[in-house]
Amino acid sequence: MIVVSLSNDLGLGAEISKVLGIKHLTTYTKVFPDGEVYVRLQEPKFLRNEIAYVVQSLYPNQNDKIMELLLGIDALYEAGAKEVRAIIPYMAYSRQDRVFLEGEAVSIRALLNALYSLGVNEIITIDIHSVKAISYFKGKIHNILPTKLFAERLRTLGINSSNTIVVAPDEGAKERASKLSSELNLKYVVIKKFRDRITGEIKHELPKELNVSGMNIVVIDDIISTGGTVANISKYLRSRNVKNIIVAATHGLFVGNALEKLRSSGINKILLTLTVPKINDPLLEYLSPVNLIVDAIIKE
Ligand code: R5P
Repeated sequence: MIVVSLSNDLGLGAEISKVLGIKHLTTYTKVFPDGEVYVRLQEPKFLRNEIAYVVQSLYPNQNDKIMELLLGIDALYEAGAKEVRAIIPYMAYSRQDRVFLEGEAVSIRALLNALYSLGVNEIITIDIHSVKAISYFKGKIHNILPTKLFAERLRTLGINSSNTIVVAPDEGAKERASKLSSELNLKYVVIKKFRDRITGEIKHELPKELNVSGMNIVVIDDIISTGGTVANISKYLRSRNVKNIIVAATHGLFVGNALEKLRSSGINKILLTLTVPKINDPLLEYLSPVNLIVDAIIKE
């Protein structure tokens, strides 16, 4: 077994190989002046007959990072790898997991089909948006949920059952909320959310009777993108006199002015996992997914 990093591996490749005690290879990548992507493996001789785990997060610059991954897989087989498996901490396009408006593509299906056609039968990813997205892959997807990671950190932050409630910002986050709640022995509530598919505008149907005054709140979600979802809910909770708001979100994209929006919405802390590049900000705390990924590799 060998671990191969592409340009957006977030330093995870070296750490995974260190924990497993296996060789780690890097790649040379660039973008040509016309926008085309180029990939060359360093030390391809080590790949002959090996199972290669290629590591690449697909944010930011999703399209370039996807292309780099496709070329990397091709290069690995070209170099004689016996099998290529992909470690994709953040799976781009997973929110377009169905046709919402007539005529649309199912983007995640197209991406997963491309990976499978190039010879990837196994993918390890972290908190892919939905079970539906997983169902399109013809091989095996190991979808790691970071629930235990969040629970461990929340315990050290003094979160306990007597004064804390978990909030899911929409139906899609219900399972995440339910798992985190049982891990920490907490109650949870699910808030109703509507997204206008044309304008992208989000509306929440916030409960009129929610007695959360003086309580700590943990808001759990898979992605913070523009920050609208979490900021909206946090503002509402603040208006209900909650004590502390901690957000646990797996992927922190923070598009545009998301951070400003979140800073002014009364959140005390945002816990994230390192699945996209880190942003240095006192509001944010990153948890390493290395051990979870290593466990997934060992189980395979
Ligand atoms: C939606 O279904 C996701 O789970 C997230 O709630 C959403 O993508 C967050 O987006 P934003 O930060 O732009 O509100």
